[in-house]
Amino acid sequence: MMNLKSLLFILAVALSTSALAQAPIVIKFSHVVAVDTPKGQAAERFKELAEKATKGRVKVEVYPNSQLYKDKEELEALQLGAVQMLAPSLAKFGPLGIKEFEAFDLPYIFPSKTALYNVTEGPIGKGLLKKLEPKGISGLAFWHNGFKIMSANRPLHAVSDFKGLKMRIQSSKVLEAQMRALGANPQVLAFSEVYQALQTGVVDGTENPPSNMYTQKMHEVQKHLTVSNHGYLGYAVIVNKKFWDGLPADIRTALEKAMADATTYEKAIAQRDNDIALDMIKKAGKTEVYNPSVKEQAEWRKAMMPVQKEMESRIGKELISAINKEASK
Ligand code: LMR
Repeated sequence: MMNLKSLLFILAVALSTSALAQAPIVIKFSHVVAVDTPKGQAAERFKELAEKATKGRVKVEVYPNSQLYKDKEELEALQLGAVQMLAPSLAKFGPLGIKEFEAFDLPYIFPSKTALYNVTEGPIGKGLLKKLEPKGISGLAFWHNGFKIMSANRPLHAVSDFKGLKMRIQSSKVLEAQMRALGANPQVLAFSEVYQALQTGVVDGTENPPSNMYTQKMHEVQKHLTVSNHGYLGYAVIVNKKFWDGLPADIRTALEKAMADATTYEKAIAQRDNDIALDMIKKAGKTEVYNPSVKEQAEWRKAMMPVQKEMESRIGKELISAINKEASK
């Protein structure tokens, strides 16, 4: 007859193993922007959809605003498995050794959103995400922010207005070349450091889509802004490959569906959010919002277009011409 002690022991083991078995799979999703941005909202939407689709077997913890990791650290944390999901800017994969993603930073490479989607939703985009796998990373989707605007504490109308300005950029060699082509001095800074660097004059200006400018209050420390749309900022949603491949198949399928739906949602809100943000910047009345003339736009384009040629050896001539071909469809 089994004694009470061993009975209790067996019961305890049974309870703990079932509790362990029932503990949700946790996905830590870290990112550097505010919640009320296209990426911030899509991350929250993914959390909602993923937890619903898996009936709570998965718990998504979203950490916005560089709460957990800044730009550079977050990619290392993903590779180590300290976090499971990120959505870094396509401009930040160079340090990981995947320079091809910097093609998205090339000035004027996307004449329209359709051209952009032809690339991100077509074979070029899929091929680029595949390049992440040898780094222990799986690419799930492309998310969008929008076309960038330029800001500084002096008017940016002519190319000569950039002369000698210290301009903050993301960690991309293409953006470095772009700022040099304008006569400015590029300075790489983590996103979470930009507001303070602008406020204290460590840098004079920067570039970003309106949704990032507004939600980081950059407009409050920038007197002038030019709606240049000279380049694009987007994201790759990525996961730790070992973690993702190790998921139960039904869970992975449910998460892939949730990601697909969150991606459709993100695409639908991106432009709207940027339009609202530009409006809010105008209404705040602290920044002169300037729309360059056709002549000025042509001058900017003439100054920055040579960057495409200059970057062929880094990014790959074939990839740049494939994107230009896709974009011209
Ligand atoms: C930046 O560093 O300016 C952006 O990449 C931030 C972001 O993720 O949108």
